[in-house]
Amino acid sequence: MIITVANPKGGVGKTTTCLNLGAISVYHGKRTCLIDYDPKANLTEALIETTASIPTITDLLFYYTSFIEICLPVQDNFFLVPARQELTGFTRPQQEVLRQTYSLKEKLSPYVKDFDLILIDTPPALSSLTIEAISIADGILIPTQATYFCLKILPDFLQFCTKRPFDSKSKFIKAFITMSHRHSSVSEEIQRIIREKFDTTLLSATIHHHIQLEESPASAQSIVTYDPNSMATQEYEALYLELQSIR
Ligand SMILES: Nc1ncnc2c1ncn2[C@@H]1O[C@H](COP(=O)(O)OP(=O)(O)OP(=O)(O)O)[C@@H](O)[C@H]1O
Ligand SMILES: [Mg+2]
Repeated sequence: MIITVANPKGGVGKTTTCLNLGAISVYHGKRTCLIDYDPKANLTEALIETTASIPTITDLLFYYTSFIEICLPVQDNFFLVPARQELTGFTRPQQEVLRQTYSLKEKLSPYVKDFDLILIDTPPALSSLTIEAISIADGILIPTQATYFCLKILPDFLQFCTKRPFDSKSKFIKAFITMSHRHSSVSEEIQRIIREKFDTTLLSATIHHHIQLEESPASAQSIVTYDPNSMATQEYEALYLELQSIR
């Protein structure tokens, strides 16, 4: 099962969701792989100390390197396909010109069955990377904040995701609210509108704003090891279980 975490709006919790949903999946005994498909490499930096010598997704796309060669074990049952900044500027037209490059689909396909869950983190844009990640996924997970700007972008992005060639019957498209602020009347009102408008698309699980979710990447940890008994862990657990139930 491949789930692509996407939203063209920046800073809405895509990377945080990949990291923590992945860690919850591992906690449930599932063999889990995170793919950092964002040139910013935030997901990579949240998990490992990066050095120039580690092979990354760029090696996968441009060279003969196989998927398994760049898939780093970060703990038991938990793997990361890292990114480095040089993925910046990489676009499909460039790839077509170069010809000797590869698609993520062809490199990943032989290994999909080796994992229970593969989560792909994407950039905050409808770039060729995001589009490719959406096209190969079994499900699209859209983190959204209860803010005016997120509310504005969500309908267009949902419409985009349901267009060809992404409209396969088996693909699920689900959004959820994250970084929700308790006791904020604006946030509550926007949440109410989002729930009303996107009823069937929106998951019930909500992730509130938790300071531990900001802190944990600085110690190269997910919330599961950083603060296992926190509300943040419980909320990501609820999100994981709800996703399991719709699959
Ligand atoms: N529920 C949360 N509570 C508190 N802070 C959060 C939460 N989720 C994410 N954050 C913080 O918000 C910031 C943006 O989150 P994140 O990097 O996951 O978003 P993103 O959508 O991946 O951003 P980008 O579009 O730039 O890739 C980060 O500093 C992260 O630690
Ligand atoms: Mg990110």
